[in-house]
Amino acid sequence: MPMKPRILTGDTPTHTGLHLGHWVGSLENRVRLQDEYDCYFLIANMHAFTTLAESPDQIRANTIGIVKDWLSVGMDPDKSTFVLQTEIPAIAELTWYFAMLIPFNRVMNNPTIKNEIEAKNLGDTYSFGFPMYAVGQCADILAFRPELVPVGEDQEAHIEMCRAVAGKFNQMYCGVGNRVPPEDHVKSGGLFPVPRAKIGRVARLPGLDGVHKMSKSLGNAIFLNDPPKEVQKKINRITTGRQSPTEPGDVNNILMKFVDAFVPEARAAELKTRYASGDNLGDGHVKAELGEAINRLLEPMRKRRAELDGDAGDQLVLDVIRSGVKKANLVAEETLYLAKKAMKIEFGGRVLG
Ligand code: TRP
Repeated sequence: MPMKPRILTGDTPTHTGLHLGHWVGSLENRVRLQDEYDCYFLIANMHAFTTLAESPDQIRANTIGIVKDWLSVGMDPDKSTFVLQTEIPAIAELTWYFAMLIPFNRVMNNPTIKNEIEAKNLGDTYSFGFPMYAVGQCADILAFRPELVPVGEDQEAHIEMCRAVAGKFNQMYCGVGNRVPPEDHVKSGGLFPVPRAKIGRVARLPGLDGVHKMSKSLGNAIFLNDPPKEVQKKINRITTGRQSPTEPGDVNNILMKFVDAFVPEARAAELKTRYASGDNLGDGHVKAELGEAINRLLEPMRKRRAELDGDAGDQLVLDVIRSGVKKANLVAEETLYLAKKAMKIEFGGRVLG
């Protein structure tokens, strides 16, 4: 059987509580692609220290919480490998070498990093390690030599940087010519496939305010774990400015964007036609149908998440992490060995102690 192509993606445990924006941006793709791809899902707990270094308890609790969230949406450790970043030493080593392949200014001008500095109000107080995480993310990805990286739109700049690092490494240490297009690097002797971002079905889900993207810190999110009534209540609070069921509505307003994202396609099309022409379709009716559709999606997730509450769930998570670490290190250590060989720093097997 031919080997399945690989995927790597992940989350940083600076919070738990995944929301609908995460679902349409990346989680949905992860669940869907698990059969066709050899998937590696990374918990970037080392990166959590770039902003939460003083809160190790919180990082640990979030780490366990993220894995529970993953299990509850259907990411399956029997099909895929869950990777705990801090247990994969090859990632830290590759980060160091990759840091030499990226101009300092490129990291500092990375728009995702810039946005975070602004959004989190880091001013000029952030640590040296904070922007370093973007280099680390290249190593997270390339340690597994994946072809695809399913992420939300906000991560695109990081994936671009990772592509630049992969290309540079292949050219500098594997003899790949400057003119070889990225998709042919491996064929031409490169160690790293130049990975592609896979953006979700809905690139940017607005939050309930209709202005910003959905985000936990902006308080405009519907969480995967919100109880059914809470979901409906949040949806009912959406405002469109439309006055009556016979007023022609804007099918690109926030409410209809949600309909597009969560109501089954054929029915969404029907609703949109009637909404646009003011065919006796009130916002209240649309909201009720939308709430039902979202609750239908979330019900099985809430149920599985509840089953994972408590110590038994924690234990299960630890087992999943332990077996994932074993599988992940086999791949990442092989990559590190090949990278060191290409860099002429492989001097025989490493013996510690
Ligand atoms: N930075 C990503 C986020 O905050 C998480 C992440 C870390 C990641 N390493 C990764 C995503 C590698 C994709 C690939 O969402």
